[in-house]
Formats: sequence, structure tokens, C-alpha cells
Amino acid sequence: MNCRSRIHLLSVALMAAATVSAAEHPASLKEAFAAHFPIGAAINRSQATGAPGRRNAELLTQDIALVKAQFNQVTAENDMKWQLIHPREGAEGYDFGPADAFVNFALSHRMEIVGHTLVWHSQTPNWVFAGTNPPPVATNAPLPAAVGTNAVTTNGPGRGRFGPGLVGGFGRYNGPRASREELLQRMRDHIHTVVGRYRGRVKVWDVVNEALADGGPENVLRNSLWLEIIGPDFIAKAFQYAHEADPEAILRYNDYGLENPVKIRKLITLIRSLQEQKVPLHAIGTQAHLNVSTAGFEQMDRSLTELATLGLPIHVTELDINSAQGGQRGTGADVAANAAATQGGLVSDADQKLADAYAGVFRAFLKHQDSVRMVTLWGVNDAVSWRANGRPLLFDGENRPKPAFDAVIREAAAAAAR
Ligand code: XIL
Repeated sequence: MNCRSRIHLLSVALMAAATVSAAEHPASLKEAFAAHFPIGAAINRSQATGAPGRRNAELLTQDIALVKAQFNQVTAENDMKWQLIHPREGAEGYDFGPADAFVNFALSHRMEIVGHTLVWHSQTPNWVFAGTNPPPVATNAPLPAAVGTNAVTTNGPGRGRFGPGLVGGFGRYNGPRASREELLQRMRDHIHTVVGRYRGRVKVWDVVNEALADGGPENVLRNSLWLEIIGPDFIAKAFQYAHEADPEAILRYNDYGLENPVKIRKLITLIRSLQEQKVPLHAIGTQAHLNVSTAGFEQMDRSLTELATLGLPIHVTELDINSAQGGQRGTGADVAANAAATQGGLVSDADQKLADAYAGVFRAFLKHQDSVRMVTLWGVNDAVSWRANGRPLLFDGENRPKPAFDAVIREAAAAAAR
């Protein structure tokens, strides 16, 4: 063999070593945290079905191998949202295919399944809210009694990725509205059908997502169409219907920004009121869409300490840590503001900062392990993340573990040594 072909072989071998995917990496998140909590990921339709979409077949195969190697819990990133699972009105209007594939994928790999999400202001088709009642004329219409709401909706227009029937994708329906009774009936039918279908298989449901308002303390609930049409008891009703449909399921209230002391106060107000009404609510989901410049042990420790006062299990439901300049203010994670949050390029020294932030956050999870019962990352790797530009996850776009992955594994090892 001549010198040139030797060099070629050597460089092929080196490249192969460098591209060894994390699927073959000796350490796995699920093993490292087995004594503490399940570690999950949100998975997309391609990952659940094996049908290439944004990723070509080779990368998709790697992504799926990574899911199996690293995680023992999965959440459907989109396919159980109302817009995707129930796009048209009525009993014939369901598209169960992708959600069924997701559930089967999880069962065949013995992963815990989270259903996300039953009642949300976003990714909900217009027909749900439509009826014959004219919408209020003024934008500052009278608010429902006994609850403060944010008058200006944060649910602005967004991309139309999810097809017709949903103005702007994440926009708000402005046409004639259903009555309270009609909307409650639709909510009940939807929850009974979806939760009932997966009863005994989907063990945890995000029943209500993001009902709290951003901004100042005066407004507790977000000014959504659910709130405007039904009133503040839409939350209690949703939990009641989900409990009827599967009395064994763990029912979560899920929201973002629970690192912000003002928003935590609102959460505590809401949950205490639901507890006083004996609403079947079994866990708090804190999304934890964090920013690299503020995320770390102190922030997460403070948040978990406050959340734990409710006495309910805490699930970290959508963990990621945005490293894009555009996201380094505040703790908001409204889907409508997502593009702005991932603009401006990465912060300096992003890899190291991300590793430090993840290490701190996991140290806080371990400190609060009596309360923290599940940790789910919002995506499998940076390339498929909803905040891809912010490189917010533990694996890069080729599924190579980043320094943040090693930092997280080190936290588990340190806990084991204590
Ligand atoms: C995101 C998905 O990741 C995206 O693919 C989709 O375009 C928009 O929604 N809070 C939630 C999640 O509860 O459902 C959102 O998921 C991210 C913010």
C-alpha cells in the first residue's frame, strides 16, 4: 500500500471516529439518571413514524437510534395537539395516524408516554371556537368576573405551518363565536375521545397548557378564547373531563416562564384555587425554555423551591437552553415570539456557557429529586429543535454529544458518589 492510500485510510478512520454518533456513546442519560427520574425527549412525526421529512433517511436513522439509546420517556412534539389530531369538526374529524404511530413507537421501546396537549390557545383550529355569536366589538371588551386577564393577547400571528383552518398558524380566530355550552361540549368530546383512545397507555397528560398571562401581576390568566368564551372555569372543566376519561392518568398543568417570580405567584394562585375546588390535578409541568445567560443552579433552585410549596410532583416538561443573542432577555417562551428569540447569532463561548448552565440546572433537579419526577428535553438534537438557531440541546445536528452532555453526565456521577 502506498503512502497516499495509507493516509487516505487513516483519514477515513479518523473521520469515522469523529462522527461516531452519540447512539454509540458509552454514557446514556437514561442510565445516568435511572435512580432519580426518567429522562425524555419530545419527538417529531418523522422520528415516530420513520418517514423522512426535514432530515434525510441517514440522519433520521441516527436521530431514532439516539432516541432509543438516550431516553426512556417521550412526548409528541406536535401530533397530539388539537390542530393535528382533530383538525375538522365532529367525530369523523380526527387524524389519529401520527399519534398512534407515536404511541406504538414508545410502547415498542418501553418508554413512558406523555400526551401533549389537550387545551391550549395555540395550534387549535378555528372551528373549535366558531359559532353564531358575534365577537365583541371593542378589543377591550369586559373581562370575565373574578379574574384578571391580560387585555392584549400575546398570541399574535405566526407561521401557517399547520395548514388551512388555522389563520396564520398561531393566529387568533376573530369570527363569530360558539356559546359557552357549545365550547364546553366540544372540549368534553375532544378530551373524552383523545384521552379515552390512549387510556392505560398514555400515563401522563398536559391537560391545560399556558393559561397564565405574561406581564405584570394584575392579570392572572391569559386572555385566550377559552377564557373569553367559557370563563375561568375552563381549566377546572378540562381536568374534570380528562379525569373522567382516564381516572388513572396523571394530569398536569403545564406552563413556561416559571423562573420568573411574578409568573410563579400567578401559578401558585391558580393551582391553590384548583386544589381548593378539589380539581383532579396531579402534577405541575414547568416547561423550562431557558436562556443561557440566566439559566443555572440558582435560578432553577429558586423556581423549584417555590413550586415545591404546592406539594405536587414537578415535571420538567420542555427543557432547552437557548444560546441565541435574541433570546437573552426575560423568561418568555410564547410560540408567537419564537423567531425573534433565536435571532442574532450565538452568544460568545456558547458551548462552555451551555455546559455550565446545564450542569447547574441538573444539580438543582437532583437537589429537588423528591419533587422532580420527570425531565423532558424539548427535542432530540439541535438540528430538529424548535429553537435550532439557539443550539439549545445536548447533542449537535449530527447527534454528537456536546460539552453540555458531558457536564450533565458528570452531575449524575457526582450525585452517585455523594
Ligand atoms: C412547539 C413545537 O416544538 C414546534 O414544532 C411548533 O411549531 C410550535 O410548538 N410550548 C409548548 C410546545 O407547550 O408545544 C411548543 O412546541 C413550544 C412551547
